[in-house]
Amino acid sequence: MSLALSVKTVDLHYGAAQALKGISIDCAPGRITAVLGRNGVGKSSTLRAITGINHVSSGTIAFGEDTLKRTPPYKRARMGIGYVPQGREIFPLLTVRENLETGYAGLARNERNIPAYIFELFPVLKSMLGRRGGDLSGGQQQQLAIGRALVTRPKVLVLDEPTEGIQPSIIKDIGRALQFLRDEKGMTILLVEQFLDFCREVADDIYVMDRGEIMHTGPASDLDRADVRKHLMV
Ligand SMILES: Nc1ncnc2c1ncn2[C@@H]1O[C@H](COP(=O)(O)OP(=O)(O)OP(=O)(O)O)[C@@H](O)[C@H]1O
Ligand SMILES: [Mg+2]
Repeated sequence: MSLALSVKTVDLHYGAAQALKGISIDCAPGRITAVLGRNGVGKSSTLRAITGINHVSSGTIAFGEDTLKRTPPYKRARMGIGYVPQGREIFPLLTVRENLETGYAGLARNERNIPAYIFELFPVLKSMLGRRGGDLSGGQQQQLAIGRALVTRPKVLVLDEPTEGIQPSIIKDIGRALQFLRDEKGMTILLVEQFLDFCREVADDIYVMDRGEIMHTGPASDLDRADVRKHLMV
């Protein structure tokens, strides 16, 4: 089932500092939407507003038919928002299997299993089920973090810089996995990134962010335009 996610004129503050200034993002059902921006422009803040980790100061976030107000993170996860945080946040002392099983928390008893397709997407997880999370490479941990989010049976998957610090061959695997989730599972995907080439390859729709504001909205091919790229130059 595909569900849309919609962020409308959201402000977010950390104390007196405003991190998000009236941002609006529409994630169309069954498509991959990418938000691009340099360091510190508010990408993670946007995802933490969507997952409910941070409260918004104004504006609304809608998920399907529901408007999320003070809905806590665990309820949003149960509703179908799967989250892959920046830096992956794998439990280093738990095994790969135990890390995946942390995704069971919000599931009904008969859903408490690891869907087989996760191991087809990321075979390395199957071969390393008994290893500790902390023993995995960065790329393997990223696959594990995506696998853990998929265990929760998300309708919308949000990912915070899934390519950060990861070798090119695994970036390709992750890109293919996201396209599989869109095409075969009908998932709606939102990712935030700094890596243009990855977004041009996997995303359908893009948003470009700078200093807490959305500067541009369009198809992924707009990343070839100089007036769009200028917002992303360091
Ligand atoms: N917990 C916090 N308390 C205070 N300020 C914060 C906090 N988290 C983020 N900020 C500030 O809010 C702004 C946006 O940060 P955010 O982490 O959302 O950016 P980002 O685009 O994800 O950056 P990066 O590319 O480095 O991950 C930055 O100026 C940052 O310093
Ligand atoms: Mg960030």
